[in-house]
Order: sequence, then structure tokens, then C-alpha cells
Amino acid sequence: MAPDNNSSEDCVTTEKNEELNTFAKNAGARVGLTSDEIIINGGRPLQGRIEVRGAKNLATKAMVAALLGKSASVLKNVPNISDVRTVAGLLALHGVLITRGEEPGEWRLDPTNVELAHKADIDAHAGSSRIPILFCGPLLHRLGEAFIPDLGGCRIGDRPIDFHLDALREFGAVIEKLPSGISLTAPNGLKGANIELPYPSVGATEQVLLTAVLAEGQTELKNAAIEPEITDLIAILQKMGAIISMEPNRVIFIEGVPELKGYRHRAIFDRNEAASWAAAALATEGDIFVGGARQEEMMTFLNVFRKVGGEFEVEDDGIRFYHPGGELKPVTIETDVHPGFMTDWQQPLVVALTKAPGVSTIHETVYENRFGFTDALNQMGADIVVHKDGIQDYKRRVARREFEQAAVISGPTTLTGAKVEVPDLRGGFSHLIAALTAEGQSTVTNVGIISRGYEDFIGKLRQLGADFIFEG
Ligand code: EPZ
Repeated sequence: MAPDNNSSEDCVTTEKNEELNTFAKNAGARVGLTSDEIIINGGRPLQGRIEVRGAKNLATKAMVAALLGKSASVLKNVPNISDVRTVAGLLALHGVLITRGEEPGEWRLDPTNVELAHKADIDAHAGSSRIPILFCGPLLHRLGEAFIPDLGGCRIGDRPIDFHLDALREFGAVIEKLPSGISLTAPNGLKGANIELPYPSVGATEQVLLTAVLAEGQTELKNAAIEPEITDLIAILQKMGAIISMEPNRVIFIEGVPELKGYRHRAIFDRNEAASWAAAALATEGDIFVGGARQEEMMTFLNVFRKVGGEFEVEDDGIRFYHPGGELKPVTIETDVHPGFMTDWQQPLVVALTKAPGVSTIHETVYENRFGFTDALNQMGADIVVHKDGIQDYKRRVARREFEQAAVISGPTTLTGAKVEVPDLRGGFSHLIAALTAEGQSTVTNVGIISRGYEDFIGKLRQLGADFIFEG
């Protein structure tokens, strides 16, 4: 068990909100992002080695899962990003004692004294992330009630939570919509249910998993998401004592158990961050070794990376991504659920596609508004046309979906430095890559959003030889 590192600076208790604020501020200071503007001189290849740590989209959920245990959990490989700090703050508000372990990125979460946080304190977290919606099941199991603030998250579409709420009602939750969020109770407890998702939603699948494990009886979930982060969350729940089986054809069976214990787990690596740095290597004609990246979870990305003209070498401790020289090639990509091409991978890759002679098409089939970032690329000289209602394309692999969008990228074009503002997490990283690729100087503002999902990206840019000024 990791030693109880109760040094005052790292121990977060719920005695006083100001302690929580101190914790959040200190954590923020550790990232070093105090200003929101970076000035980049483009045209220099990124070269060197960086390490990616645990996945933003697993670590945050694993922290919530700790609420379900009767004993403390230890999560390793946790990235120091603001989404993690937001969830830590909300957990601390509910009485979870959070301390740092010995190694960097090791967190100990002790839910022994979980209590219902004061609503006003929770309100302070409204709009900060989408993760709070996953507190529903665990808090209903622990406390019989929950209040969830209005959600945040990237503005890449409406981001409704109807799948989540429908599933919770199937388990027996009673939900009341309030002006600043939702209030839930479970007057008759939570019972296993047969649930079929209208779409393999990652969040809704996590919602069902985190609720079903302690519900009375069996739950059958159909049309579930099966992303690697989902499998890693299932591994965590199994360590806690849950009985979960992943069946063929996106079916997951969960047998409710009366009690769960804490877990010890090392979070899966962040494949979205790895893909972002790979795209940066391609666009800047560089060579980046991404420590911690694994081939198995990135196979679809690697196929596309090679088709565009990139090359990669898989090692035991990571993957080398590089531009082998020669021209890049245009491609047609459809984003899809796993094991398809992830929607989070397209934004960083678009910059390289602006350099490929010919026409590339990206069909975005997961979110209805995920091409806003292309405005800045066009401002820098790209030629990208966004079709808000998607386009028919005889080469399509997947059927067109409602709310689909498509981006048609004609190249090669030369990007010229400009002043651009980060719109969202992945679009923001795309802006960084564009500035690193462009001729001349760019100013990228609102970069604080990028620290939501990319640990120490400023330090990594320095490690890779980028030429920039940052006031942080
Ligand atoms: C997760 O979001 C990730 N975020 C996203 O990554 C990722 O793009 C997405 O999964 C798909 O892989 C986190 O894990 C924190 P969904 P999530 O539920 O769970 C619709 C990043 O950059 N939908 O699979 O919110 C929804 O609007 C972020 O790291 C409903 O209609 O995604 C979307 O169109 C961006 N009703 C589609 O389903 C619902 O109740 C997929 O959403 C839920 C979702």
C-alpha cells in the first residue's frame, strides 16, 4: 500500500473549502500555466523524446470508481492535467481523502468518510467538465442521493446526457432537473436492468458500469462502447470485486455484488495525446519518440498515419513517429467508435493533410460540430471546406449518421503565422501544430484549455526543440 503521505500540502480534506482551493491552486501552480498566450516561430521540425502518462479519459473515471470501494484505492500513472484536478476537487468535496503516493502520478483515494457535499460548494464546479455526471451511480449507492452540477466539456456539439439519465431511471433512480444541475434519489435502491444504448456512447457505458456493479441482480448492457479506456475501467472494477463479462457484439453483463474494495491500478496510456504528438511530428517533418505509447490501442491510427506518408517504429517502451521525407498523400477518413478512427485523432492530423497534394476528406460521424478549429487553419492559408451536413461519398465505409459533418482539405497549401485562439482541447492542439508548421510567427491564445488534457505540453515542446516564448 502506498504510504500515507499526509504532508499538509498534499493532503486534501473536506474540513475547509479553502484547503480545497489551496490544493487546486497548488496543483495548478505545478502545471505552471499562469498565462494563456504562447508565441511560436514556426518551420522547425520537432525532434526528441517525450513521455505520455495515463489517459485523461480513463484516469478521471478511475478516480470516480474509487467512491465505490469500502477501502482506499491507489491509481498510478495519473497525468497532472486540470481535468484530473477538477475531479479530485469534486471527490474531496464529497469527503474522499486524496493524497499523493511516492512515485510521480501516484494518487491514493480514500472514500471511507464519503458524505454529501454542500450544494453551494458543488455548484462551484459547474461547467468544469463532463465527468461529474459519472458520480450519479456511486453517490446513489453510497448516500442514496446525489446532486450533479451542470456539465462542462469541449463545445463540439450539444453533448446531451439523455442516454445517461434513461439508464439511471432503468436502475430505479428518480431524477429531478434543477436550475443548476440535477438531483437524484433511489427510494427503492438500485436494481439490475436490461439496457440497450441508442449509440455506443463512452460516457453512458461508464455510467452503466459504475451503477450496475453494486446494483441488486444482473445488468445486461447492449450496444456498449468498447474503447480501450472502457476495458481498463472494467479491469479496475474487476479488481474491486465486480463481476463483469464483455460478450461478443458490444454486449456487457454485470452481476451486482454487495460490496467492493479499493483497487491498485496503473492507468492505460493516453492514446489521444500520443496521436497528437505523432501528428505534430508529421506536420513539422520531425521525429518524435512517444514513451509509453503502445501499438495495440493505436492500430487504426497507425494505418492512417502510414497511408498519409508517415512512418513509425514500435519499441517495447514506446513508438517512434517520423516523417521519412517525400510528399504526404491525401486520404479519406471516417471517424467512428473503437476500433475505428477516433474522433479525437482527426483535429491534430488535419494540419499535416493541408500539406498533402490532392484532396483529403474527413467524415466526422461522432460529433455534430467538431470542425470549428478549421477556421483558424484557413486564416493561416489552408484550403478547408466544411460541409455542415456531411457529404455523400461512394468510398464510404460507414453509413452516414445524423448530425454528420465533413471537411474537404485541398493541398498542398503553405500555412503562414497568425494570431489564433484555442476553441477546445483537440482543436487547440491542432492550432499549436499549425503554428509550429507555419512560416513565420504565430500567437496562440487561450492555451489554458490545452492543459485540460495535455500534461506539461509547454515542457514537452521545449524538449522537442520548438521555438516559442511563453509567459507562464
Ligand atoms: C468521451 O466523451 C470522451 N471524453 C471524448 O473525448 C471522446 O471524443 C468521446 O468519448 C468519444 O470517444 C471523456 O471520456 C471525458 P460519447 P463522451 O458519450 O463520453 C452523443 C476529448 O477530447 N450522446 O461517446 O461524452 C454525443 O453527443 C474528449 O478527450 C448523446 O446523444 O462521448 C456524441 O455525439 C472529446 N446522448 C456521441 O453520443 C448521451 O447521453 C458520442 O458521445 C451521450 C452521448
